[in-house]
Amino acid sequence: HWTAEEKQLITGLWAKVNVEECGAEALARLLIVYPWTQRFFATFGNLSSPTAILGNPMVRAHGKKVLTSFGEAVKNLDSIKKSFAQLSKLHCDKLHVDPENFRLLGDILIVVLAGHFGKDFTPACQAAWQKMVRVVAHALAHEYH
Ligand code: HEM
Repeated sequence: HWTAEEKQLITGLWAKVNVEECGAEALARLLIVYPWTQRFFATFGNLSSPTAILGNPMVRAHGKKVLTSFGEAVKNLDSIKKSFAQLSKLHCDKLHVDPENFRLLGDILIVVLAGHFGKDFTPACQAAWQKMVRVVAHALAHEYH
């Protein structure tokens, strides 16, 4: 369900993404912009202010882990559901994360990419990435019951 152009826009941008930087920023922004998401990360230490969240090493490390995992979806564009089946079960059964949060993180990631790439994040590129984050959120919600 991807056109050749969409695939190119997604993998082409991804090759330039700094996963550590953008992952840390995306998770930090999620926790700051949607503060109720902090309750899933009660073991992550000091989340008391935007500055604390941005400087929190556990947030940075987990953000990198999440975006690295997102990168697996980029590498397997035609089998995203399958590659995220286990993670979907984990987020449902063990972590009890409401799937609405996957959509929120997807939108945050778009903001982060727009900030990092500026004019290079063209409307066509955004369109492909909006589809990408929607497909990923859908795959992560797929095993919920
Ligand atoms: C753990 C991926 C979204 C909450 C994880 C792990 C991965 C991951 C790879 C580690 C699993 C392991 O240790 O085996 C993703 C991806 C997401 C996403 C790809 C979306 C693109 C979210 C969201 C939330 C969330 C939106 C909550 C708001 C958690 C929590 C853990 C976790 C609480 C366990 C953290 C810990 O204590 O180590 N996720 N995640 N995830 N995720 Fe997600």
